[in-house]
Amino acid sequence: MSGPADPAPSTAAHPSATDERPYSPGLEGVIAAETALGYVDGVNGRLLYRGFRIGDLVERGSFPAVAELLWTGEWDADAHLPAAPVPDQVMDVLRRLPPTAKPMDALRTAVSAWGATQALPWPPTVEQARALTAFSPSALAAFARLRRGLDPVEPDPELNLVEGFLYQLNGVRPDPGTARALDAYFIVGAEHGLNASTFTARVIVSTRSDLASAVTGAIGAMKGPLHGGAPSEVVEQIHEVGSPERAEAWVREALDRGDRLMGFGHRVYRAYDPRAAALRKVAESMDTKPDWLDLAIRVEDVALRVLAERHPERALKTNVEYYAAPVLMGVGLTPDLFPTAFALARHAGWTAHVLEQVVASKLIRPDARYVGPAERDLPA
Ligand code: ACO
Repeated sequence: MSGPADPAPSTAAHPSATDERPYSPGLEGVIAAETALGYVDGVNGRLLYRGFRIGDLVERGSFPAVAELLWTGEWDADAHLPAAPVPDQVMDVLRRLPPTAKPMDALRTAVSAWGATQALPWPPTVEQARALTAFSPSALAAFARLRRGLDPVEPDPELNLVEGFLYQLNGVRPDPGTARALDAYFIVGAEHGLNASTFTARVIVSTRSDLASAVTGAIGAMKGPLHGGAPSEVVEQIHEVGSPERAEAWVREALDRGDRLMGFGHRVYRAYDPRAAALRKVAESMDTKPDWLDLAIRVEDVALRVLAERHPERALKTNVEYYAAPVLMGVGLTPDLFPTAFALARHAGWTAHVLEQVVASKLIRPDARYVGPAERDLPA
């Protein structure tokens, strides 16, 4: 191949020189979709699902009713969605995973394997959304038992999804208070606008890929610690504090070290996270609440006061993770299952967004600003 001895200096202007389109790192502030599902009002601390307040949904709804509301727009307080059996081929896959696998990896793998057994037709439908949302709790419960050397438990069709999940996890029906508490957690976790995992699901299905691929990708996005939340770290934090008398000194020392207080602050909420308020009530009413809940409430008071003192410019309030921790612990989940509980709940929102994206029927394909070298010749 022949060519000039030295690369010729380019006479072309840099490709980005005339590109004046706005760039928003992380897409912050960019409206990338329209949705009728969830309204996150960060200034006033409101969260609405199709217009209904989250606090009312927690008090008077159930997870299946909320999922149906998201999928169909209809409110049916008596909606019934039992857990679905795990197909044999998917169970084989779960049996082959190492018991040390992270539960989020197991769940992501299970959803992907489920998709391979379903030959899901295009477009995704409400029936597909129901089927996948009903499958995943069974798959996770099966993995949680297999890794302990126990046999999986078949779903009980009489039980609603969350109660059925606890039954399949533990092999005994949960008491109504425990089932109700986890159901409340699932309701607050069901939907939250165009967060990273939901955006991932919408991007995937915008290519006319299928529902299982969209949710597999969404689980992958949620696995990251910046999204999957921090409730297990909240538990560690409260244990470190140890007693109410130590709270003030502990909080101040943590902030002096530059640490972040887990369960405080939020990208969108500048007011108290309404999900935290709902879950605090649930946690306080549980018979099986952890013995450190009172301490957590004392620590919260101190933390809010000191955060306001240290950051007068930025409202740092309690977020959902703070009170998710006692609820998830109180229902008997081990901390390594906390992120998967969030993912199971968010199946409702992910799949509802997939259905919306199908109607929007627009490939999501943003541009990148090119900042590499200007046009040039290859070296000789
Ligand atoms: N503790 C102490 N300081 C905090 C906290 C916190 N929890 N949150 C924010 N700040 C401070 C930061 O140090 C920063 O201060 P600086 O400007 O002096 O450096 C300022 O507030 C702004 O912080 P950002 O990270 O820019 O704010 P952002 O809105 O991007 O962060 C986040 C949101 C990641 C949730 C943050 O508040 C945080 O790390 N919280 C602790 C972890 C947590 O609770 N995560 C769960 C979030 S809810 C969910 O995921 C469902």
